[in-house]
Amino acid sequence: MAPKIEVLVPFLLCLATAFIPSLNANMLESDEYLRELEREYDPYWWQKYHTSIIRNQAAAFLDPYAISGNFTAAISMDILGKNGGRRLLKGKNKGAPCVATNPIDRCWRCDPHWADNRQRLADCVMGFGKNTKGGKGGKYYVVTDPSDDELLDPKPGTLRHAVTRTEPLWIIFSHSMVITLQQELIMAGNKTIDGRGFDVQIAHGAGITIQFIQNVIIHGIKIYNIVSKNGGMIRDSETHYGHRTRSDGDGISIFGGSNIWIDHVSMRNCSDGLVDVIMGSTAITISNGHYTDHDHVMLFGASDSYSGDKVMQITLAFNHYGKRCVQRMPRVRYGFVHVVNNDYTHWEMYAIGGNQNPTIISEGNRFIAPENRFAKEITKREYTEESIWKNWQWRSINDEYLNGAFFIESGPELKNRPFSSKDMITAKPGTYVGQLTRYAGVLPCKIGHPC
Ligand SMILES: *[C@@H]1O[C@H](CO)[C@@H](O)[C@H](O)[C@H]1NC(C)=O
Ligand SMILES: *[C@@H]1O[C@H](CO)[C@@H](O)[C@H](O)[C@H]1NC(C)=O
Ligand SMILES: *[C@@H]1O[C@H](CO)[C@@H](O)[C@H](O)[C@H]1NC(C)=O
Repeated sequence: MAPKIEVLVPFLLCLATAFIPSLNANMLESDEYLRELEREYDPYWWQKYHTSIIRNQAAAFLDPYAISGNFTAAISMDILGKNGGRRLLKGKNKGAPCVATNPIDRCWRCDPHWADNRQRLADCVMGFGKNTKGGKGGKYYVVTDPSDDELLDPKPGTLRHAVTRTEPLWIIFSHSMVITLQQELIMAGNKTIDGRGFDVQIAHGAGITIQFIQNVIIHGIKIYNIVSKNGGMIRDSETHYGHRTRSDGDGISIFGGSNIWIDHVSMRNCSDGLVDVIMGSTAITISNGHYTDHDHVMLFGASDSYSGDKVMQITLAFNHYGKRCVQRMPRVRYGFVHVVNNDYTHWEMYAIGGNQNPTIISEGNRFIAPENRFAKEITKREYTEESIWKNWQWRSINDEYLNGAFFIESGPELKNRPFSSKDMITAKPGTYVGQLTRYAGVLPCKIGHPC
């Protein structure tokens, strides 16, 4: 009997994940799903896969500790001022129309002429995605048509037409619009999607796929109510289209990509993850986002057996994890994640978790635990004995714990961080992170005014 059950149970689990992905594991975590994707690759995708592995390796930083330390130094400099003055707290900009409260925003937001020089945004990224240029240097492409009716031969003026062009493009919008994607939006490299100036929403359809490409910026759009789609024939570049299996219902799926920056995006209620980063993706910054109404928020590394995710380096900065977020902010396998100055105001199960020896440096975040006394722990090590995870480097530096939140640290201590907890967080509970993330999510930018 036993062998029969062993065969049956995984089979049933597979079915469950295939049909109701949001109830069980994240769909991408099923090895069968990934194998099915691989089977679908034609020579064109295999080529992209192999090129991407090489490019992603090259995009990763040899010394991730230096990059994360330098980012922290830049933030503390910005907050404390070079002479240690508490610039931010003095309310220097009080009453002024624009207050950029963190160093990424400070780089562009208060310029009333931002719309005349949109590509300047590409110089503002920090953290592991810092070399991302997106469509910088390319032409502007104005999306005028919210429709998505032609998957093989997208109409000029649609977002699908824009993102599948070969040349670098800085994609903007002519007016506010809701785009309902009929199938996943498969992007080509060297693109920026810049929603500033209008209310641009991607909703009620498929999500965005960044697969085996480099150099993408997504800024200032809302993504919500994303659902799984059946797949079919879809164009993915000017020179290629092909059959795709079912898309998984992620808001943004980064699959073997590098040099990616997602900034000021508001996301909620997608049927799989909000942002999933898998299959050897790296050099990524996700910043200034606002996330609500979601169970599996962010999955970094989907497979226990895919050690190629050791290359993964991701910075999460100035994000606000808000109402009705349940777990995985993020859940990490193998990679190196710098979680810096994020505001965790809600979780139901845990905030940061993972397995397979990921490195997690949690720095200057605010964690407000839920009322449930069994969910006060910020961290969760999945499926691993303490004798093993005690060696994983999960460190909490200058984090602020409220309402009984606690972070269980492990592994080697981090040294040489540039500011002390006295300077940053504990001296003024909540103030820094509250300020730094105050404008998380889409900004209501008006052309001709500071944002
Ligand atoms: C970090 O900052 C130091 C000093 O400012 C600089 O010398 C070093 O090159 C920076 N490292 C990286 C990886 O950016
Ligand atoms: C993007 O641009 C770089 C040059 O800046 C080029 O080498 C690369 O091939 C482009 N990538 C794609 C996917 O078009
Ligand atoms: C979440 O999205 C699904 C799919 O679009 C929708 O049916 C459902 O009503 C949404 N839930 C909320 C709370 O918005």
